[in-house]
Amino acid sequence: MPKDFLSVADWPAAEIMQMLARAQELRSLHRAGERPQTLQGRTLAMYFEKPSLRTHVTFEAGMAQLGGHAILLRPDQVGIGTRESPLDVARNLSRWVDGLMARTFSHELVELLAENATIPIINGLTDRLHPCQAMADLQTIANVMNPKDARVCYVGDGNNVANSLILLSAVVGMGFRIATPASHCPPAWVMERAEAIAATSGGDISWTEDPLEAVADADFIYTDTWTSMGQEDEAEERRKIFAPYQVNRHLVAGAPKARLMHCLPAHRGEEITGELLDSDRSLIYEQAENRLHSQKAVLERVMLPKGIA
Ligand code: CP
Ligand code: NVA
Repeated sequence: MPKDFLSVADWPAAEIMQMLARAQELRSLHRAGERPQTLQGRTLAMYFEKPSLRTHVTFEAGMAQLGGHAILLRPDQVGIGTRESPLDVARNLSRWVDGLMARTFSHELVELLAENATIPIINGLTDRLHPCQAMADLQTIANVMNPKDARVCYVGDGNNVANSLILLSAVVGMGFRIATPASHCPPAWVMERAEAIAATSGGDISWTEDPLEAVADADFIYTDTWTSMGQEDEAEERRKIFAPYQVNRHLVAGAPKARLMHCLPAHRGEEITGELLDSDRSLIYEQAENRLHSQKAVLERVMLPKGIA
């Protein structure tokens, strides 16, 4: 099994499903007030090059609730690549802590850290992928219906969140349609990898430029910000490019039963209307809640490779 959790596509379907089952169990235990102490004495370092609410709080609270501890590292303190090489940071942390969760701009940086660390590295979002978000989204979908029967439609920017959802859909055999402008479609390597995985899992992954066509009969309609962290200079141009992809009353009329998803943070009135975000059809706070439970399952899986005693 991989040492690290950098991409959901690195993990076999059976392992992903086991983590999902454990996440469901941890959610039930948490809601019943129980806090299994499976990571007692373990420490997670957390490195953020970009802002975060959900990822930061759910990893830190998750470690504390499992009996462990988390340390926040800021780039201005550590200076990976400026004060110290990624190689030396990875080798030092490997001597002290049991895992590192990193949110970086460059995906290559988390790969470099993983190559040079003996401890597991968890991808807390890079410009390319957001695997922890996809795991929480899978849990959210599984609480509504069997993911293998689900038709998920993503509308908007072909970004890190979309990439991980595409790959996870392929791994677990979920139906996934994505509608983006041709200029902002998911990278070819993501579609090719997903199609190769889906050929054995039974997943059905497709892209279109037409959002109305994409949402027809969807069980879930998902969107994310049009301007990801690091792209702020393009915000105005992006607002124009993505305007036809807004998730609004008109778009969702084509899928009257679809539940609505967003990884957050959301920009009300841009990629989705406030009316829909706050409607009964919205699953956004379920998704946010499930970050806690699904990441605890990931933490246990990578920090206790021999399983829970
Ligand atoms: N969805 C998500 O990753 O949220 P944060 O950026 O607040 O961590
Ligand atoms: N695509 C967004 C996700 C934020 C959780 C970004 O990268 O900023």
